[in-house]
Amino acid sequence: MKVGVIGTGHVGLVTCVALAHLGHRVAGTDSDGEKIALLRRGSSPFYEPGLDDLLSQGLASGGLDFRPSIAETVQGATVVFICVGTPPRADGEANLLAIERSARELARHATGPTVVVEKSTVPVGTGVRLRAILRQERPDLEFALVSNPEFLREGRAIQDTLEPDRILVGAETTEAFDAMRRLYEPLTRRAIPLIETDLMTAELAKHACNAYLALKISFANAMARICERAGADVVRVAEIMGADPRIGRAFLDAGLGYGGSCFPKDLAAFERLVERLGGDLPLLGEIARINEEAVQATAEKVKEALWNLEDKRVVLLGLAFKPDTDDVRFAPALALARLLLAQGAHVLGYDPKAAANAKAELAELEVCLDPYEAATGADCIVVCTEWDEFRSLDLGRLKDTMAHPLVVDGRNVFDPEAMRRHGFTYYPTGRPPVTPHRTAT
Ligand code: UGA
Repeated sequence: MKVGVIGTGHVGLVTCVALAHLGHRVAGTDSDGEKIALLRRGSSPFYEPGLDDLLSQGLASGGLDFRPSIAETVQGATVVFICVGTPPRADGEANLLAIERSARELARHATGPTVVVEKSTVPVGTGVRLRAILRQERPDLEFALVSNPEFLREGRAIQDTLEPDRILVGAETTEAFDAMRRLYEPLTRRAIPLIETDLMTAELAKHACNAYLALKISFANAMARICERAGADVVRVAEIMGADPRIGRAFLDAGLGYGGSCFPKDLAAFERLVERLGGDLPLLGEIARINEEAVQATAEKVKEALWNLEDKRVVLLGLAFKPDTDDVRFAPALALARLLLAQGAHVLGYDPKAAANAKAELAELEVCLDPYEAATGADCIVVCTEWDEFRSLDLGRLKDTMAHPLVVDGRNVFDPEAMRRHGFTYYPTGRPPVTPHRTAT
């Protein structure tokens, strides 16, 4: 099928390469001309495992192309995806201006009946508004609106798109459902379920999924605070909870909390949406509050251990909001860095992929190219992102290079027993600390 994709951010670009990989003829566009030039040369503007390969394959096969304008992208397309950003306004509400503008422009330039798919996460009711706009712009053309929210995770975006747990399609007409069935046939052929529902339900389900996942993380973090007071181990608590299939172990990792471009923004937008609908769901605010508390609690641990933070060298291991990405949007590591900097600490950071983005976001942060270099003369290390490479750090070397062997583990990456053996003072999250005076049993 001929597909157009408006917006080549994380969602849009992954949609482009994945649909081209499935055999469709895809054209992508973006308002950022430099990005389009970069993509045409086969370079991805961000790091995502597997993306570069699929991008070059798509370009080489001729199935994938990037064009400078919406007009050239939607020409002859049967299906057009809107994947533009929905950044938060000051009050947390999603800013849908880019969506509206994209829809108007695509309508003006559409050359035939078009299935218009909203892929960006949007508040319930956006589809209905888009439908009205499309009709207003082009009363002469047939448009069918579809909500097809993505469930991809950064760092695993290609895998999540090509092997999803489910595909969600909310639509209003048989033509729209037919088009989406044809589009995803290469996946449904492999028994991947395609769930069909109405527009509103699909839009709301996406909010519900992200809110529920964030709820699990915040629940684990709330348990971590209680475990620390009680002397219990939140990692074991999560294992025990997770052994019940009604609960499940996933997303119960306590730590610095969630960041990224989705959960913080989506939770705030969902809260505003509920208010606008005249509803009341204080649970959403509580999830966000517990998430902020996770960063504050980690900062307090550092302060408690170092006493005065002025002139102390604190090293953050991991700056990305999660492993396998260079994305630092709403990264808990940067929120922590700001708290420590405000109290006078000298904050250094190391990240395998996100150092440059972190530096661009927070100039006061000193970024290092190597974890051992960062740790040299450090008073404290804080693990902020659970990159695999941190698990295999040489703990003996790390300890020898530090001024004081103190580690605050915001992601429970290290084994407390190994930390004890190597002589660290070690504060994990929601687990008993290992100190020269008090040792976990
Ligand atoms: C999230 C959802 O997982 C995707 O299903 C969804 O499609 C996406 O948002 C979206 O709406 O676009 P993503 O933000 O890429 O994906 O990353 P996650 O893997 O969900 O992690 C989010 C944050 O939660 C990270 O900061 C991670 O470190 C944190 N997290 C995750 C925890 O603190 N504990 C956990 O147990 C799991």
